[in-house]
Amino acid sequence: MPFNRRFFLKALSLFAATPLVAACDDDDSGETDGTETGPGTDTDTGATTTDAGTDTGTDTGTDGATTGETTGTGDTGDTFPDYEWSGEPGPEGLFAHGVASGDPYPDSVILWTRVSPAAPGAAAISVWWEIARDEAFESRVAVGTVETSADRDFTVKVEAGPLTPGTRYFYRFFAQGRGSPVGKTRSAPAGATEKVRLGLCSCSNYAAGYFHAYAELAKVEDLDAVLHVGDYIYEYGEGEVRTLEPATEIVTLADYRQRYSYYRLDKDLQAAHAAHPFIAVWDDHETTNNSWRDGAQNHQPESEGDWQARKLAAYTAYAEWMPIREQAPFKLWRGFEFGDRVSVSMLDTRIWGRDAEKNQGGDPADPNRQILGADQEAWLVDRLAATKGQWTVMGQQVPFSPLEDTSDKGWESDKWDEYDPARQRVYKAIRDNKLSDVVVFTGDVHASWALDVAPEPYDTAKYNPENGEGSLAVEIVAPAICQGGLDGLIAQSTGEQRVKKNPHVQYQNAGAKGFVVTEFTADRMRAEWWFVSGVVKPEYTFKLWGAVTTLAGTNHLVREDIPVGL
Ligand SMILES: [Fe+2]
Repeated sequence: MPFNRRFFLKALSLFAATPLVAACDDDDSGETDGTETGPGTDTDTGATTTDAGTDTGTDTGTDGATTGETTGTGDTGDTFPDYEWSGEPGPEGLFAHGVASGDPYPDSVILWTRVSPAAPGAAAISVWWEIARDEAFESRVAVGTVETSADRDFTVKVEAGPLTPGTRYFYRFFAQGRGSPVGKTRSAPAGATEKVRLGLCSCSNYAAGYFHAYAELAKVEDLDAVLHVGDYIYEYGEGEVRTLEPATEIVTLADYRQRYSYYRLDKDLQAAHAAHPFIAVWDDHETTNNSWRDGAQNHQPESEGDWQARKLAAYTAYAEWMPIREQAPFKLWRGFEFGDRVSVSMLDTRIWGRDAEKNQGGDPADPNRQILGADQEAWLVDRLAATKGQWTVMGQQVPFSPLEDTSDKGWESDKWDEYDPARQRVYKAIRDNKLSDVVVFTGDVHASWALDVAPEPYDTAKYNPENGEGSLAVEIVAPAICQGGLDGLIAQSTGEQRVKKNPHVQYQNAGAKGFVVTEFTADRMRAEWWFVSGVVKPEYTFKLWGAVTTLAGTNHLVREDIPVGL
């Protein structure tokens, strides 16, 4: 329906908000360590809000629909002006990529959308955003405008606030007379916090099947945030189940942008983003398989060009399309606080500082070997020394615990076992600070594991699998949303071998797809594995398959007896 209203210009200057810095901005003076949460935190966001406006009409607009008249009944519960537009509306699919939110602080959250202008060479577009306590948007707490253009692939990102800690919010965007779907988000809690619930997921390969797990993740209630520990996209070309754009391996910035765009048209992925704030870091496939600081197994310079240029293209598209607080190029490690209950350190074990894997020329015995890089490792050690939450979560990519390799699969070759000197330094930080209740979150391997983090799990004098004596932490490994892994009997036998050879593995499933829901309280952390029955057909079932609990102070996971079978 066309609009016949004037574009609301008079308040534009009052509510002007600047976009997050472009991904290539090399001014990192605004970097944040993620530990500060009050106003004036040093993030690179420039969104500004004000309550100086006057309410000029009813809130309008429904999910994805053109907004209605706003010529002023004045019956809304807040004093902000409404979005207005006159003239022909933009394309119907202007907000085809949905909405997302992420990186919650107690007083702000990142809101994301993307506009799809009719013409590829379209000029900059002004986008209105608003965030409210209620789904009807009668109690908005902030509004603003932000400009986007082809320079950032028409993606939109704002830091919305000030917010009240631990509170549910609703948000949406308007542009060219069109409204976006409504998203739900939540500010992080502050101070005394009874309970924190975090989702954990990884590895979503669009070509390999349907995102049923994202559809189910969207339905989970009361998550404070979803931690996505990487392989959000895959770089490969066409796969066996769903067609893909581009159809070939992605290498250039245009390729990476097109791949994110194609993913974000998936309704299940959109639903997951619209339901929860995400805290995301990348793994290897956001660049290319088994990548490290200066190269990758799946990068051939002679045919695919300079690695650093490809890495920058991959980062630029990631920063544009993911609802993350942007820092310097490639810098994705950052921290979050969920009141006095949980401190989260999101780590990049792939690109920032990783030395080459053994099969790419690295030396696992090198005492100075890095998987995080010296600066990220120092930042982590500092956070471990001064942790604020009772529970400390390390969100990262590859398996952290020692694991005797029971498989000939190459995907087990790049874990912390190959970077033991770096792992020993993390052990030392945990010991030096007499830390307990550290929980490592892991992805990458398309399998579900729960492990006691026992530095010497095979020595009965140094680890007791019955009570966890000798364990420093626990580790929760997420299954794939949709990718590879082992299936059927092979998965079962591999899993059984793994449990036999690795007494610190308390739960495993080598094949199923899904996600993990974790809950942290004063006396325990509980993790649940929720699996879909399959990803290659549109039909599926969904069920709780496994759960483990660690009591505070024990660093020891105990498996719950849950009947399995979908
Ligand atoms: Fe993966």
